[in-house]
Amino acid sequence: MPGVSLSLDTEDLAQRYDRISADRQFRGGQEMLRELALNPGETVLDIGCGTGMLAEYAASLVGPAGSVVGIDPLPLRIEIAKKRVAPNLTFKVGNAYDLGEVAAESFDVVYMNAVFHWLPEKSAPLRAIRRALKPGGRFGLTTVTAERAGSWLHVIRQRVLARDPYNKYPEAQAMQNYRVSPGELEQMLLENGFAIAKLETRVSVRNASAHAAWTPESALDFAEASSFGNFLGHLPDELRAQAREDIKRELESLRARRTSDPAARESTRRPSRIIAVATRP
Ligand SMILES: C[S@@+](CC[C@H](N)C(=O)[O-])C[C@H]1O[C@@H](n2cnc3c(N)ncnc32)[C@H](O)[C@@H]1O
Repeated sequence: MPGVSLSLDTEDLAQRYDRISADRQFRGGQEMLRELALNPGETVLDIGCGTGMLAEYAASLVGPAGSVVGIDPLPLRIEIAKKRVAPNLTFKVGNAYDLGEVAAESFDVVYMNAVFHWLPEKSAPLRAIRRALKPGGRFGLTTVTAERAGSWLHVIRQRVLARDPYNKYPEAQAMQNYRVSPGELEQMLLENGFAIAKLETRVSVRNASAHAAWTPESALDFAEASSFGNFLGHLPDELRAQAREDIKRELESLRARRTSDPAARESTRRPSRIIAVATRP
């Protein structure tokens, strides 16, 4: 299976992500942190911290006696994260598959916000996270559920990329991420030595006015930035711009039909995100 590439990020995508995620991943992450109930003085590891907005917020919750370390494999995102300066906040390039240097039993809390669906293999990171947690420590995660039907954007993407000339690049057509269902997640957590404190699916954190502000351009911007370039990045440069325009045109015509379609509006209110808290017994 062609994997998710960590080499398609650009400065523009990283900056775009930092702007766009404030209304999405950040708000979903705040919800997760409420469930994790961080206490002043706790030590926290944010795996896949992106541009660091949530880690900065977590640092404000644990206060000067606590600390937060954010790691992410994308250097351009870590560069932006490092501009968030606080005495109890550190960022470095790092990968969920390479946590060997993290001291055993060193963190009260580890979390992954909107990261789990980007990991092709889940057991090794889960075992490493368990090892990094102190006994009684908490692991929080949010992820897109596999039960979510393909969004219109992804349906149209598949349709466009199946056409000539894009279909000469089968890598580009591949499924981009690795979602699990709530049942699969529960099993993985239990198999890797966690006890489950909470596991729920919830609706999008975006409010009605954010949905109303949706445009094909904003949807494409979000998909490209939050997939760190994987959305169309496997196409050669000259075809990427063309595919983007093709997708945008189809989204425009869908939007015209959708505004009068109550079923389409209803689909945005279905639970699409898993939020979970597990503990190391
Ligand atoms: C949608 S972003 C979420 C970023 C951040 N957690 C937030 O809440 O804004 C997904 C992040 O997962 C990271 N990621 C992908 N593969 C990873 C891996 N193997 N280890 C750690 N992070 C990874 C990406 O680099 C990207 O920053």
